[in-house]
Amino acid sequence: MARLNDNFLKLKAGYLFPEIARRVKAFSDANPEAAKNIIRCGIGDVTEPLPAACREAMHRAIDELGTREQFHGYGPEQGYEFLRQAIVDHQFAGLGIAADEIFISDGSKCDTGNILDIFGPGNTIAITDPVYPVYVDTNVMAGNTGDADASGAYAGLVYLPCNAANQFVPAIPEGKADLIYLCYPNNPTGATATREQLTAWVAYAREHGAIILYDAAYEAFIRDPEIPRSIFEIEGAHECAMEFRSFSKIAGFTGVRCAYTIIPKALTGTLADGSRQAVHPLWSRRHSTKFNGASYPVQRGAEAVFSDAGKAEVKTLIDHYMGNAALLREACAQAGLPVFGGVNAPYVWVGCPAGVTSWGMFDKMLEQANVVITPGAGFGAAGEGYFRISAFNSRANVEEVCRRIGALL
Ligand code: MLT
Repeated sequence: MARLNDNFLKLKAGYLFPEIARRVKAFSDANPEAAKNIIRCGIGDVTEPLPAACREAMHRAIDELGTREQFHGYGPEQGYEFLRQAIVDHQFAGLGIAADEIFISDGSKCDTGNILDIFGPGNTIAITDPVYPVYVDTNVMAGNTGDADASGAYAGLVYLPCNAANQFVPAIPEGKADLIYLCYPNNPTGATATREQLTAWVAYAREHGAIILYDAAYEAFIRDPEIPRSIFEIEGAHECAMEFRSFSKIAGFTGVRCAYTIIPKALTGTLADGSRQAVHPLWSRRHSTKFNGASYPVQRGAEAVFSDAGKAEVKTLIDHYMGNAALLREACAQAGLPVFGGVNAPYVWVGCPAGVTSWGMFDKMLEQANVVITPGAGFGAAGEGYFRISAFNSRANVEEVCRRIGALL
């Protein structure tokens, strides 16, 4: 008999965003006229065209593939040196990261899920609440949790509550945690962590031999120069953290697919016999066994993000989305709702009107304003009472969403 992974049955019905898409489709099917007006501010998917610098680089790369002399077959599993070196030069200069500590991939969602392959059983896993659901669901699939309770919280996970009182940056746990997922700028709350807060997390990780899985997919949206963009800006982080980054949101690569994970060679964990083992060779082995590299044209397109023209275009994109975030913040504040995030992050996190739940707000916005938002409860129990609006949209759509919020609330 073929035995299946029972852990999948512990998962809630559907992954959050497909579940939202299902509900939007049901509404659209039942209300075809209203469906024409729907504006989607749910999933954080980019809307603006790819930078010309990236498109031109990908065109050139495809033309190369059309010649015998410049044809490329399988690339290096870890990614081409030209891209890894460009990342070091433009994103990590002076931070003690080497090109061979960078692993190119086709997405941070995959990397943050796949990384569990290299961790053994029995780790105490800490996640923030609310949280990007991938961290939770992949741990459930891997058998690192028990069942979910009525609030959706899984037995065996350490939930670090994030709320308005702590500005959505969790307190250091009193007990033990072995793996700690941190995401700043945060998805979903749009919060950022200060240097002092990250320094405290690094100190905790070093003291407890823990590893921080730092998701910095939204670092490009940080505008305040005092806020760290990388965990490796914190002294000692190279021995206790890895970092996930992506081209998705910075340069519109959600459909193109390119990301990278930084695993310093100094990062170690413990084996069953208690000895220390570097993490880098394990991930290198995993990556080269299960992955054949992002495509050559895509890596050339990603490299172009760091060209002068690419940087200028990326700045225009970020300015555009952050302009949207400012408008959305303003509209929600004027409607009398508590507003968080959206200043150094492309997500605006909003308190629901009194007496309205997250999913209630989702229904209200969909049915009465034809706007798709993400219910905070979809990110964890502590997200109840909030909703998230994505600033990834055209300016015209965002202005219309603001008008509808004003009319609705
Ligand atoms: C989100 O909306 O939370 C993100 O777009 C999801 C993702 O990046 O996978």
